[in-house]
Amino acid sequence: MAQPSPSDLRLPGHPHFAYRNGELMVEDLSVSALARTHGTPLFVYSQSAMLAALAAYQRGFAGRQALICYAMKANSSLAVLQTFVNAGCGLDIVSGGELARALRTGVAPEKVIFSGVGKTRAEMRQALEAGIGCFNVESLAELDVLNEVAAALGRRAPVSLRVNPDVDAKTHPYISTGLKGNKFGIAHDAVLQAYRHAAQLPGLRVVGIDCHIGSQITEMSPYLDAMDRILDLVDAIEASGIALEHIDFGGGLGIDYQGDTPPAADALWQALLAKLDARGHGQRKLLIEPGRSLVGNAGLCVTETVCLKPGEQKNFLVVDAAMNDLPRPAMYEAYHAIVPLQPRAGEPTVWDVVGPVCESGDWLGRDRAMNVQPGDLLAVCSAGAYCMSMSSNYNTRGRAAEVLVRGDRAQLIRTRETVDDQLRLESQLSLG
Ligand code: LLP
Repeated sequence: MAQPSPSDLRLPGHPHFAYRNGELMVEDLSVSALARTHGTPLFVYSQSAMLAALAAYQRGFAGRQALICYAMKANSSLAVLQTFVNAGCGLDIVSGGELARALRTGVAPEKVIFSGVGKTRAEMRQALEAGIGCFNVESLAELDVLNEVAAALGRRAPVSLRVNPDVDAKTHPYISTGLKGNKFGIAHDAVLQAYRHAAQLPGLRVVGIDCHIGSQITEMSPYLDAMDRILDLVDAIEASGIALEHIDFGGGLGIDYQGDTPPAADALWQALLAKLDARGHGQRKLLIEPGRSLVGNAGLCVTETVCLKPGEQKNFLVVDAAMNDLPRPAMYEAYHAIVPLQPRAGEPTVWDVVGPVCESGDWLGRDRAMNVQPGDLLAVCSAGAYCMSMSSNYNTRGRAAEVLVRGDRAQLIRTRETVDDQLRLESQLSLG
């Protein structure tokens, strides 16, 4: 097998990550220089890539009344949130913890929307007191509890009902959310009744309708189908005398991990807005909740090769990042491209790239052809979304550091976690 030249190496993430003089760069900085300064595993993000991804949505919505609420579960590091908040975004949150983080960014509370199937009373109170813009409510039971909590505070909670439109997002079953069998949303044929119920509860104020059909969606058709189903409901709800201010179409747009070809955000919205116009809803305020498509290909994780372990059946390349840093392969058998920061000439070997965690599930990539020596630095690509935010301390491994790059400047936005950080909440045995 011939060694691919650096320009052949597939590097999802496009213009902001590229090889220059045999060396992987993020914007104008050398990734290996960042790794030498900050150690590994290290997440490196391109702020320009984040803003370029956002700009595609903004182009799509030009001239419309639209609020892009970044789904912060994808990557909730403060500086990442501030990148989007400072660019005008709202935030989609799913917990009291995310609300607290969101408020630290200085976001206007009315630009915060609260999704999720199991909000507690305490979280509802916290969000009402903060004055968030909308609760996306997922069940009749939640409507009643929110009504009670709001009434006790003397407030009216702004609500949308999350509709389960029963469309197939054609994605991984763990991240598909809009089918009847999923735990999410209110079934399409129960929605009208739920709105009638909500409209007569004194602690609630109906403001919108919401759906989210899944994640890593790479086709337009599920979105177009969902929009038709939602607009049918909007017509029926308004015909029954309940006005809706906004429609929230959720998130879910996929990214290129391995030659995936999702529609560009502006192309997707051109098609969706054409349908909205054709059905007479062109003037309506729109909300969306994108996560992955804003950050996924704006980040990579740098890891150092610890050792090579050639074997009879498999060759293992052991690196210092693991499933606790990059859980997607273990959880979803997800593919992330893995490339050397400074590719070597010569014959490649086919490796399974694995971490040091004591589980066979701790792999980052299978059957990857690379010419690598111990100590070489590798980049796990497309690691901006659902990596750091899903990382853990399994095996008492500290969470990685994070660097955000803009042009030729870099900021350490998260310091590497120490063992002391991890032990701070624990106590020595005192029961004897
Ligand atoms: N809105 C709601 C209500 C959601 O549940 C999600 C994601 C989003 C928006 C953002 O979706 P996105 O635009 O990022 O696709 N950990 C999985 C993905 C889980 C997605 C959960 N919900 C992964 O690593 O693939």
